[in-house]
Amino acid sequence: MYEDRVRRADLRDRIVSAEEAARLIRDGMTVGMSGFTRAGEAKAVPMALAERARRDPLKITLITGASLGNDLDKTLAEAQVLSRRMPFQVDPALRRAINAGEVMFIDQHLSETVELLRSRQIGPVDIAVIEAVAITEQGGIVPTTSVGNSASFAILAKKVIVEINLSQQAELEGLHDIYIPTYRPMRMPIPVVEPESRIGLPFIPIDPDKIAAIVITTKLDSSSTVLPPDDETRSIAGHLTEFFLHEVKQGRLTNTLQPLQAGIGTIANAVLHGFIDTPFHNLKMYSEVLQDSTFDLFDAGKLDFASGSSITLSKTKYEAVLPDLPRYKQRLILRPQEISNHPEVVRRLGLIGINTALEFDIYGNINSTHVGGTHMMNGIGGSGDFARNAYMSIFVTKATAKGGDVSSVVPMVSHVDHTEHDVDIVVTECGLADLRGLAPRERATVIVANCAHPDYRAALTDYVRRAQSRGGHTPHVIEEALSWHARLRESGSMKAGQAARALAS
Ligand code: COA
Repeated sequence: MYEDRVRRADLRDRIVSAEEAARLIRDGMTVGMSGFTRAGEAKAVPMALAERARRDPLKITLITGASLGNDLDKTLAEAQVLSRRMPFQVDPALRRAINAGEVMFIDQHLSETVELLRSRQIGPVDIAVIEAVAITEQGGIVPTTSVGNSASFAILAKKVIVEINLSQQAELEGLHDIYIPTYRPMRMPIPVVEPESRIGLPFIPIDPDKIAAIVITTKLDSSSTVLPPDDETRSIAGHLTEFFLHEVKQGRLTNTLQPLQAGIGTIANAVLHGFIDTPFHNLKMYSEVLQDSTFDLFDAGKLDFASGSSITLSKTKYEAVLPDLPRYKQRLILRPQEISNHPEVVRRLGLIGINTALEFDIYGNINSTHVGGTHMMNGIGGSGDFARNAYMSIFVTKATAKGGDVSSVVPMVSHVDHTEHDVDIVVTECGLADLRGLAPRERATVIVANCAHPDYRAALTDYVRRAQSRGGHTPHVIEEALSWHARLRESGSMKAGQAARALAS
């Protein structure tokens, strides 16, 4: 049974039920699970663990690649299984538990987690749970729709549970490129010199004796929740196209641009989708998550190659792409996230990084994670890996949120994920600010004029004027710098205070 999926015969007697496999996970353990942006997560064992925890409470530290699908973070959070969680999540129930202080969340650059594990700067992974399409004749694990941190989890853990998912296309085999950096002090350069570089193995090499259990599953990845492009995201894409055309005209880029990286979520997906209607061609991606837009660009004949760590698609795209994988396979690579996001490679390839901000300030500091400065949204993800090291670091956001009550351009960000030093270009539907070579006072002028929503532009202009009259290299009316967020907290709108100030003056 399952000869083509568990090709090493002596491992077949380790096939057990999910409940039995989950019993290997004990209270207090650190578990490394596959799963990256709702793709390729282990599905049956965590569900069985949550079920067991409802009868017999237990707590674990859960480390993954990034977010999980199939409501797993929700189920585990509601079953109160999670004491610590890293490095990324996107689930509302887990977010609530994190913000209530019930789950200790460690928000990490996605390239760094396994570096910290490998060098024992954080505690070891006791057990890895990895979804796979197959186990090879040598006992190697072939991941499914994501690689994430799975390779290092499996290599570093004492025991490994493999979930063989029969619904994941066997055709996924051959897509992955598993490369693990060598240990310091003799670490070698990572030999990725172009997005197409294949530098590793198509499976995760482990000692097969570590495989403690194999579980057979059939549940598919859940589909992505990104929304289709709207007027605002189309405008953002339009401003970026105009900007890139200008760069080509100036001879700083060609029509093939530089390899593209695009962040998670609705806005980044829509922006990338916007490249379909541009003169740019023979594009390449060296990114983290490959969303619908990647395949739209392939189909439009715009994209030649895409390297990522996961494939996360909407339901319709999933149904179209996965069964048709052979058509795309030669133009795709899935890598461990420490390689897809590696600063060395990002700098070498000269990526154009396009990531999303919740808010940015008049100097170009970016908040991508904390609503109102205190409440975790998702996490920094890979945005910092790319932003600091990219050839050109671009942040996009809609100019307002929450029906216009929140300005995404503020005097001072309430939390800093990316400092002004890591940010070259900021874009909203109102316009684009090219910050390259500008000093803080110049940045403030161009950001407010080009990016702020008209409802907030006068108040920001007034703030900049008053701040500059006080002096300083990066002027602020310091006692007022976070007052927009305070007003939002008190009245539900950043505008209310603006009205009050106008009345008082
Ligand atoms: N204050 C409060 N809430 C805000 C906000 C702000 N300044 N800006 C946006 N939001 C809210 C939106 O209203 C929306 O809320 P809803 O879910 O209740 O509708 C939510 O944030 C998502 O915003 P949306 O405009 O739909 O953008 P998105 O889906 O593109 O996600 C981020 C934006 C920033 C949350 C997302 O890109 C992210 O988590 N980024 C950090 C990680 C990252 O960049 N990884 C990429 C590396 S490859």
